[in-house]
Amino acid sequence: MSAKIDPFHAIAISRAAHRLAAEGRSVIHMEFGQPSTGAPAAAIAEAHLVLDRDGLGYWESVPLKARIARQYIEHYSVTIDPEQVILTCGASPALVLALSCLFAPGDRVAFARPGYVAYRNTVKALYLEPVEIGCGEAEGFQITAAAIEALDPAPSGLILASPANPTGTIIAPEELSAIVAVCRRRGIRIVSDEIYHGLSYTGPARSVLQDEPDALIVNSFSKYFSMAGWRLGWLVVPPDLIDAARARMGNLFLTPPSLAQHAGLIAFDCHEELEGHIRTYAANRALLLDALPALGLRRIAPPDGAFYIYADIGHLTQDSMAFCMELLLDTGVATAPGIDFDPVDGHRYMRFSFAASTDRIEEALRRITPWFAAREPLTGS
Ligand SMILES: Cc1ncc(COP(=O)(O)O)c(C=O)c1O
Repeated sequence: MSAKIDPFHAIAISRAAHRLAAEGRSVIHMEFGQPSTGAPAAAIAEAHLVLDRDGLGYWESVPLKARIARQYIEHYSVTIDPEQVILTCGASPALVLALSCLFAPGDRVAFARPGYVAYRNTVKALYLEPVEIGCGEAEGFQITAAAIEALDPAPSGLILASPANPTGTIIAPEELSAIVAVCRRRGIRIVSDEIYHGLSYTGPARSVLQDEPDALIVNSFSKYFSMAGWRLGWLVVPPDLIDAARARMGNLFLTPPSLAQHAGLIAFDCHEELEGHIRTYAANRALLLDALPALGLRRIAPPDGAFYIYADIGHLTQDSMAFCMELLLDTGVATAPGIDFDPVDGHRYMRFSFAASTDRIEEALRRITPWFAAREPLTGS
């Protein structure tokens, strides 16, 4: 029997948003974690040149692998061989490669709930058994060493994300080191999704590679580099898994787009432009953190990084999907329902992505403020 995979509900919201826009409605997209800025200018200029001079065959960029390896020395003081870097078509295939290299069908793989929707569904698609660790507001919706210690029996694997989606919370460095220590002692292999590294407002996030050279690290050009549609990412594997990861990449996906690899190399030199995006996100974050409590949304995780705010709307609804759809139809503001991230409590949460421009976020707030003010609280809440 084929694995049962749940839909990504934010996609249904997004489709409805695009339908509204096609009908002439003004829509503000806050449903996906997608920078609205596009690739850095110099990366786009390089892509134009490459299109004219290169046949764009299957390709694996040796200079890009070396540049990514350099990034680990510069940012985390961790030395890796460029051969440990497997170039992928984004973080999504990198996650598939990582799980498939480490685990066999039936193995138990743990991750935080709430968490990125694809963790649960990719684990299920590979016939692994998901172990959801319910993480509440008190822990910043993040996994703790104590929670891993308490798992009985120990799972085979753990997916970590810091900063996380949908909350943007970062695991404190000491806690991360403690999680790694528990995993090492209990024989739990770690896959760390570091796709939101570089996007933090309260200090840089620590890489799991700083504590655990055997961890597999997933990363991508989709977020910090603002290149989601170029479909480029990478996986760092320990030396003993290079052949297994390369074999899987070659057979399942061949290579990432050649054009994206050329552009991605240049994107590493576009620090100033990319830091400008972060200043925009920081301004958007401040705007929302200031405005949302006045809308009655006071129970929100502090977003240390990424570009999300995950808010408790339990006093207004027990059906986050219907709530987000209604908000979209009434105001043109598209958001993501909590049920994508949490099958247990997500019916009373929603996620705002603040990756859009500041004037769009301001306009969204102008639209949703009267809408929230007009909502009747649920009786008993
Ligand atoms: C936590 C997390 N991991 C992975 C991905 C997938 O990213 P990519 O576009 O690189 O496949 C996303 C996309 O939103 C994400 O939020």
